[in-house]
Amino acid sequence: MSDYDHLKVQINDAVATITIDREDKLNALNSAIIKELKQAMQAVYDDPQINAAIITGQGEKAFAAGADISEIAVLNEMNGRSYAESGQEVFQMIENSPKPVVAAVNGYALGGGCELAMACHIRVAVKSATFGQPEVNLGTIPGYGGTQRLCQLIGKARALEMMLTGNTVDALLAFEWGLVNHVTESNEEMMEKSRQLLDKITSKAPRALSMVINCVNAAFDADQNGYQTEANSFANCCKTQDFKEGTAAFLEKRPPKFTGN
Ligand code: COA
Repeated sequence: MSDYDHLKVQINDAVATITIDREDKLNALNSAIIKELKQAMQAVYDDPQINAAIITGQGEKAFAAGADISEIAVLNEMNGRSYAESGQEVFQMIENSPKPVVAAVNGYALGGGCELAMACHIRVAVKSATFGQPEVNLGTIPGYGGTQRLCQLIGKARALEMMLTGNTVDALLAFEWGLVNHVTESNEEMMEKSRQLLDKITSKAPRALSMVINCVNAAFDADQNGYQTEANSFANCCKTQDFKEGTAAFLEKRPPKFTGN
């Protein structure tokens, strides 16, 4: 991976940990960070040495406290649309990543921070984390996919209430509502849990993993017939070496050795 000015990227045993590194501004997502997130995700897609990613924020206080309000404040109708679209593009890239991405939510996940966490496949949050889409307090709305993904994760009624009131929810309520998958006592445990999940997931056949992600995303894509996507993907799995290996290993009562082919 190349060097970044606003992210820290570390690769350990095929898992890339991408840390938003703007602690003094609670990791608020400015355009430079969005651009680098795109670059980092492109590397996750392309680098055969990387099997999965964790996205987190620097420090104890914030995952990301939103899009950078000083940048938003000067937007107009024309560049407001492209501003939202460019963030949406990067978050869609995360959502559609063929390799699993976990959000390790270490504190405030507000506005764009909540949207970033929701674009990841799985969310692990420390118990002190806070989630919210408070954009109405600023006279605006979520622009990085929040109006769509929040409904998908917690349902229309709860999503509407959160976005209309601007109220935040703590990690335990977020867990109860399905916004997060796991809640941990400490940041350390959050990183360990994220890592454990990814170690388990990446022990499976990589192509099957990417197809699961693709089919699940198809369920929320009005332009796709999810059932057809699933049948096509199932057929694709049938022609892989890993499918032959996985089924043979079961029948021979031994662990499979997946190669990604
Ligand atoms: N954009 C730009 N800067 C931000 C920011 C954001 N979304 N969120 C926090 N910051 C900055 C603050 O301006 C402050 O900078 P300064 O030290 O130069 O004044 C710094 O980060 C620390 O934030 P501060 O507000 O002093 O911390 P706090 O502990 O008192 O409050 C929050 C924490 C998260 C409650 C508060 O920062 C907040 O409400 N942030 C905005 C959340 C939001 O509306 N997000 C959606 C944006 S679309």
